[in-house]
Amino acid sequence: MTRAVRVRVPAKVNLALRVGGTDEQGFHELGTVFQAVSLGDEVQAETTRPGDFRLAFQGEGAGFLPVDDTNLAIRAAKLLAQRFDVADAGVSLLIRKRIPVAGGMAGGSADAAAVLVACNALWGLGASRDDLQPIAAELGSDVPFLLLGGTAIGTGRGIDLTPVMTSGTYHWTFALSHGGLSTPSVFKEFDRLSDPRSTEIPEPLLEALRAGDAAAVGANLTNDLEEAALSLQPSLAHTLKLGLEAGALGAIVSGSGPTCAFLAGSDAHGHELAEALSVFSGVRAVRRAYGPVAGAQVLP
Ligand code: C5P
Repeated sequence: MTRAVRVRVPAKVNLALRVGGTDEQGFHELGTVFQAVSLGDEVQAETTRPGDFRLAFQGEGAGFLPVDDTNLAIRAAKLLAQRFDVADAGVSLLIRKRIPVAGGMAGGSADAAAVLVACNALWGLGASRDDLQPIAAELGSDVPFLLLGGTAIGTGRGIDLTPVMTSGTYHWTFALSHGGLSTPSVFKEFDRLSDPRSTEIPEPLLEALRAGDAAAVGANLTNDLEEAALSLQPSLAHTLKLGLEAGALGAIVSGSGPTCAFLAGSDAHGHELAEALSVFSGVRAVRRAYGPVAGAQVLP
């Protein structure tokens, strides 16, 4: 029997995020293009006593992230055990975090996706990625994409996924902010500031991705939640401006923020952007990454 499994999982950035009206449960209809990026977390899962579900963190957010049943990672393990009738299920999880917490890069959802993949292997369930997808969707709107990875269009709540053809590698520089933003409060601010928008994905963005034209991808990045995130954290406007002045091909708030994402023309250019951004006191840290990368994967 397998005693321990390690899984690597990416973060996501939304290259386009269009926000429409709400459904009966208050979820917004989305039209989004996700890209999985190499800034990721690692989850280690080990067998333990039946009924024992344990969680610890290292790195980003360790010490203040909840480790009880309110954490999506524990909920993911318990939901999988329940859906697959795993008798004597138990798991000890150690999550090494690099994805910023409450940063708009789906860190919590990424960990949940990684736990599904890890426990599937640990408990020998033999579930395919397609089998895990509906369980992922129950856990959160971003979880299915973090199982899939790559670049994909998300519609509905963001869980109906269609892979997108892309060429080349995209170099990202991320500016992390002090503190986080809660996703529900950013959607609430969006509702206060704006009417629902069309959720159509801009065709020029898809064309640019197919062609591998990073400059055109940069010019077509779009985020309907950006105005709401800037309203809640006004210093982000200066962060975005700094990146553009340093020659970023595109600058955008990542998802619900407050992390800002900058597209660079090359790895070296990404390094220059990181240097230019790190001088601003509103930027807590900078990280560089590339995309697209695979979804949650068991490590050898
Ligand atoms: O699905 P998830 O739990 O990640 O969503 C977090 C919150 O983001 C929801 O409770 C809701 O307030 C908001 N949300 C939304 N519409 C979506 C996805 C998320 O309003 N399609």
